[in-house]
Amino acid sequence: MTGSSRDSGVRPFPFFRAGAQAHAGESHRPILVLEDVYKYFRRDVPTLKAVNLTIERGEFVFVTGASGAGKSTLLQLIYRKHTVDQGRISFCGRDIARLSSSSIPYLRRNLGIVFQDFQIIEHWSVFDNVAVALEILDMPQRLVRARVAEALERVGLAGRGPERTSDLSGGEQQRVAVARAIVTEPALILADEPTGNLDPHLAIDILTLFEEINASGSTVLFATHDHSLIAKRDHRIISLDDGRVVESRTGLGGWHAAAQAAMAARAAIGA
Ligand SMILES: Nc1ncnc2c1ncn2[C@@H]1O[C@H](COP(=O)(O)OP(=O)(O)OP(=O)(O)O)[C@@H](O)[C@H]1O
Ligand SMILES: [Mg+2]
Repeated sequence: MTGSSRDSGVRPFPFFRAGAQAHAGESHRPILVLEDVYKYFRRDVPTLKAVNLTIERGEFVFVTGASGAGKSTLLQLIYRKHTVDQGRISFCGRDIARLSSSSIPYLRRNLGIVFQDFQIIEHWSVFDNVAVALEILDMPQRLVRARVAEALERVGLAGRGPERTSDLSGGEQQRVAVARAIVTEPALILADEPTGNLDPHLAIDILTLFEEINASGSTVLFATHDHSLIAKRDHRIISLDDGRVVESRTGLGGWHAAAQAAMAARAAIGA
């Protein structure tokens, strides 16, 4: 546990650190389980239908699917921007669908969230954009400075804290957003098209950065519709189609094998 253990009052949602040993009792359980999840934005048509998923601690998972398939909605249910209409989402063993609204900040301190459009404050300094994530933890300033410096170093922006964020390039601004997401050492990182506004070579750099973060202990859910990015790696892929999980495999090698098996099956029945 971190400085949060010094908070006064009730803490209805515990603080799980990224490293498995930081919360040994949880390390053998899946970090995230979705059971028969439905989400309706329109009464008649569910946006997500009967979604069942298990994400193990330490995994790196691509979430893919066409525009409108429900990738963002899936992530938004996990960080409680929306609530499920049916089903259950367990994060670190807690049913987050049933958290009271006053508990949601405690859930979110366990999550690092990165968006396509960065969502940083451009007229703030790089330091302030990252330090804001630590505000809820009520840390001494000396510790805040050390944690921000460490996060900036991890994203390749060592020493850039005093700069105005608007002066940075797009790729660097996304690195600031990643630093803000990791500075609390969250157990789970949710990245919603984090490379969508970046050139292809910068997209690879940012993907690699998330992989390094994953290697140091955080579980990563990385939503993207960019198949050229997915094809470069061998991570597990969860594919959404019309609100359903239609594929959940490891690597595009698995996809090709499945496509070949389907072709062979069709040939066998003369279809
Ligand atoms: N807040 C909302 N209110 C109403 N409908 C919504 C809302 N959010 C999402 N939807 C609908 O849910 C469906 C899935 O949207 P979502 O944003 O999750 O798709 P996506 O896979 O992330 O697409 P994209 O690749 O374009 O980001 C869409 O039909 C969308 O219109
Ligand atoms: Mg989306």
